[in-house]
Formats: sequence, structure tokens, C-alpha cells
Amino acid sequence: MCGIIGVVGADDALDTLLEGLARLEYRGYDSAGVALVRPGETWRVRTAAGTESVAALRDACDGAPPGFRSGIGHTRWATHGAPEAVNAHPHLDCTGRVAIIHNGIIENHVELRAELEARGHVFTSVTDSEVLAHLVEESRRDGLELTDAVRTALRVVRGAFALAAVDAAEPDVIVAARRLSPLIVGTARGTTYLASDVPAILDRATNFFALSDDEVVRLGPEGVRAVDLDGAPVRLRSLAIDWDLETAEKGGYDDFLSKEIHEQPDALRATLLGRRRGDGQIAFDELRVSDEELAGVRRVVLVAAGTSHHAALVAKYALERWARLPVEVDISSEYRYRDPVVEIGTLVIGVSQSGETIDTIQAVREARRRGARVVAVTNIVDSSLAREADAVVYTRAGLEVSVASTKSFVAQVAALELLALRLAQLRGTLASLDVENLVRALEATGPLVAAALERAGEVERVAAALAGSRDFFFLGRAAGFPTALEGALKLKEITYLHAEGYPAGELKHGPLALIEPGVVVVAIATDPDLEEKLLSNLAEVKARGATVVVVATDDDESVAALADYVLRVPALEPLLSPVVDVVPLQLLAYSLARLLGRNVDRPRNLAKTVTVE
Ligand code: F6R
Repeated sequence: MCGIIGVVGADDALDTLLEGLARLEYRGYDSAGVALVRPGETWRVRTAAGTESVAALRDACDGAPPGFRSGIGHTRWATHGAPEAVNAHPHLDCTGRVAIIHNGIIENHVELRAELEARGHVFTSVTDSEVLAHLVEESRRDGLELTDAVRTALRVVRGAFALAAVDAAEPDVIVAARRLSPLIVGTARGTTYLASDVPAILDRATNFFALSDDEVVRLGPEGVRAVDLDGAPVRLRSLAIDWDLETAEKGGYDDFLSKEIHEQPDALRATLLGRRRGDGQIAFDELRVSDEELAGVRRVVLVAAGTSHHAALVAKYALERWARLPVEVDISSEYRYRDPVVEIGTLVIGVSQSGETIDTIQAVREARRRGARVVAVTNIVDSSLAREADAVVYTRAGLEVSVASTKSFVAQVAALELLALRLAQLRGTLASLDVENLVRALEATGPLVAAALERAGEVERVAAALAGSRDFFFLGRAAGFPTALEGALKLKEITYLHAEGYPAGELKHGPLALIEPGVVVVAIATDPDLEEKLLSNLAEVKARGATVVVVATDDDESVAALADYVLRVPALEPLLSPVVDVVPLQLLAYSLARLLGRNVDRPRNLAKTVTVE
């Protein structure tokens, strides 16, 4: 997830770009850059200064030559290549005249780069995006004008993109296009704008338009002209914007937490994009461990904290069931202090959204010291965890601002389950058709999560009915157990109410003593094979006066009799279902927190990234 901005025909082009980038920083901030164009000259500056990248860019632009009226800018959320200035956008072609910015992932960048290099192009970054600059360059060399050059380039790329291109030979023009990544156009008295999101240009443009997938737009002196990939004219969708700036940054949501909860279908899509090759083999571009090494894994240990630990627990079920590997999951702060046994063939997977959680970094360090191969599963490119590990799988969930993790959980589960399926492929523990069906089912979880999100209204009504409750127990069996833990964690973090997650069968071994009228029991009952057992557990709590809320699949009527409230979710293969089942639990915590007047984005006593032991 990166931020994109462009402007054509403004006396204050550079200020427009810098101000817009500052407002897009929530889309990513590990590096930033601008390229301004005037006849015969493309002037580019890039900086990489972590959270201060846009501020550093402003300083670096201090001596900018005057007279530029058009340009493009980018704030980066790294997916391919470390967050260094050399990988920051805009990227230039070999002539230094064409500059491009890109948000998304070019899936076939490896083969495109090889072809372009074979034809003599020189690359200066390790990003997937740079291929776009060289592809546009080739078409320009063949005499195509910029719009046609971009259209031609897009015919050969696979993946997701919002991109913009400029060329000093056509200095009053920006050509932009999108597929699966957001892009809007704004206009105001002789000036045209382009941005990945409304806040960047909200105070400058007066009319707003949205691009649809595979539309290409040309901003120039003649205004805005849009075509499809075949060059046929299309009409852009007009957008009615009546937000103030703060609402706009949150995409129209009241807070980042609900925005991020609703971004989960996109997070899943981005995490899974481009992971399946034509021959059905699962491939992780960034995983630098050979197939032979992966096939030689004899035991897996997952280390993680908080929500990431819950995602790791889900992965345990998948790795055992599909890859038939013995799996241990440890809380990272415990791992290094318990003299762990690391045998030959042990693969340690460190899971961390931020990649900076000190407990998890120390755990993988310890594992490596003892001879384990370490894979990091993280959302942050080139984070400390990514650098500590032998190899890395990125979750690509996009920037998570709210302290409570939501979209990271579903992205981690998806990435880890895909890794489990890759191990199953290499070990031959699942038939290829079963692997294919599971991968497809995983890829189809985005729309199911979207369907679960559409039921937010039902969850709100249940939350209103539970508003006076003080004690919550979340119960589940198998993959429903980590889901229960995650539901309880979300509730305690953002409502400050007492919540505990338990394996449903464990309740009778002690915690049942706490059940009395007024206590709420939330059960995840989406696994048909375990439902009968779970129903008996619910009968036990019901008999002691608890209020029972059940998360159940659409077609399941048997749970309704025991439940005071039912939260419906679409049915799914049980090992995949945590990504859907967690949604009503996140929404329940969110609604209760709002009813209690909590600050959902910044809960008390907590920090987004925990860098102390
Ligand atoms: C829960 C939450 C924390 C983090 C934990 C690990 O909502 O935000 O429990 O999950 O601090 O953080 P990462 O994944 O960055 O290692």
C-alpha cells in the first residue's frame, strides 16, 4: 500500500505534491519521492527516512529549480526491495526522461526484468515497479505517445497497480491507470490532479472522479481524457465528496480501527496475489529457501506474540493436518528462556506484523544460535525480523495504524496457511487436487470476509444488548480455539472489559466456577465435526445462567436453540474459517468499545509496536 499523487498545470506544483504526500503518509512512509517535468527535463528527488521520509523530502526539495508546473509524487510502503532511497519512487527509465510511480504488485516482474535486461535496459533498483518505466520507455522509443505507451506496457504486466507516468518530452501530461489499486482524479480551474486517495487533493480539487479497473487516464492541457486498455473512450465515475480532511484520511470511517477491519478483504487479496504459478505450484517470490531445504523440514516451531501468536496457533492445525509435520507454537517471550531443543530439520517461523517486536526478534535469534533455519512472516519489508531471518514471507496487509491488530491477523493466517500448503506440496502429503482446491478456497476468502462485514448491523444490535456485561468467555475447539483467543484479546484491548479465551473442553476443568448470571459466553461453532461437543459445553454454561452468543454458519439451525444471540458467518472449510469467524468478534469488540466511549485506535497502556522486553 503506497500513496500516489500527481498534478498538471499548477504554479505551485511542488507544494501540491509535498502537501499531498504528507496527507498520504498513512498509506506508507518508509520512503518518498517526487519527479517534476518541464520541456526536456525530469527533475527527481527521493528520500528514505522511515516515518520522517516526507519531511526529509521537503528538506531535500529546498533548492528545487523554479518553473515546474507538473509532476508526480509517491510515499512508499515497501513490498519488493528494502526501504532505501534507491528503491523509492519515482523510477526513471534509461533515458532519465520517463518517470513512473506505482502502488501495487507486478506479479511477473522477474520475467519482465530479465527480458528487458536482455534487450539492454539497465535497472537501478530491486523493485517490481521499475519494469514499468522501462516498458513505457520502449513504446516511447517506438514512437507511441504517452497514453498508448502506458496502455501497451499494461498489456504485458500481471498483478495490481495504480500507476502514473510522466515524460519530459510531453511535459504537460500525466498518464495514469489502475487495476485493483485505488486511483482518483480531481479537477479545478485549469489544474488537474491525481491521487490514490481523496485527502491528498481534497483542499485543491473541486470535482472528483474515480477510475475503474483497466482504465487509463490522460491529464493534460485539454483536461481529462479516459480510455480503456484498447484505447476506446470511457466516462469516469463522478464522486460526491462531502468529507472534511480528517474523515477523508480515515477513508470515511470514524476511526482507523473500523477502516482496517473493513480493509480485510483487500488485505487477504494482496497477501495471496501472485502466489500460485501456472503449473499449480505455490511460489513465494521473496522466500529465499530452496525447495529441497523446505522438503527437508522435519519439525516446525512458531514463535510470536499477541495476535500474531493466535495466527501462529491457527497455522499449527493447518501444518499438522496438511503437511503432516509436528508443530510447536510458543509465545516468543517464553521461547528463549526455556532452553529449547533445536534438532536438525527444525524450521522456526517468527510471526510479527511490525517485525520489530523485541520478544520475537530475540526468540528467532536464539533459534538461529541453536542452528535452526528461520523464516519471518511479517508485514514490514526489511524490518528487523526480516533481516534477522534466513528468509521471509511478507503479509502485504498494508499499513496498520490502529493499535489493535485486525487485518494483520487474517493476512498472517492466509500467508501461514499458504506456506503450510507449500510444505504439503513438497512433502507429497496432500493430493495436488486437494492443494489446488484449498488454495482456491483461500483465495475466495476475501469476498466471504466482505459478506461477514456486511452484517455489522446485526453485531451492533447484539453489542447493544450486552452493553452492561463485564465478564466474557470466548470458547472454541480446534481452529476455533485461537479464534476465541483473538476475540477475547480484541475485547479486552479496546473495551477494558474482562475477557478470556478457552478451549471449550477445558472450561469444566476450572473456569466453569466463574460462570453465573451476567457472564457472557461467546462460542465459535462453525466446525460441523465439533459442533455436538461444543453444544454440550454450551448447555453447561447455559445451565449456570450465562448469556450465550454463538458464531454459527448461515445454514446451521441446531445452535440457535441454545443461543441467546447468533452471529452468522458464511460457511467455509474449518481450517480456513478463522479469517471469517474473527470478523464478528472484531465487530463485537469494536461496537462495545464505542458504546463505552473508548478510544478504539489508541487503547490505554498499549503501544502498536513493543520494542522492550
Ligand atoms: C493485538 C496486538 C498485539 C500485537 C503484539 C505483536 O491486537 O496488537 O497483541 O499482536 O504486540 O505484535 P507484532 O505482530 O507486531 O509482533
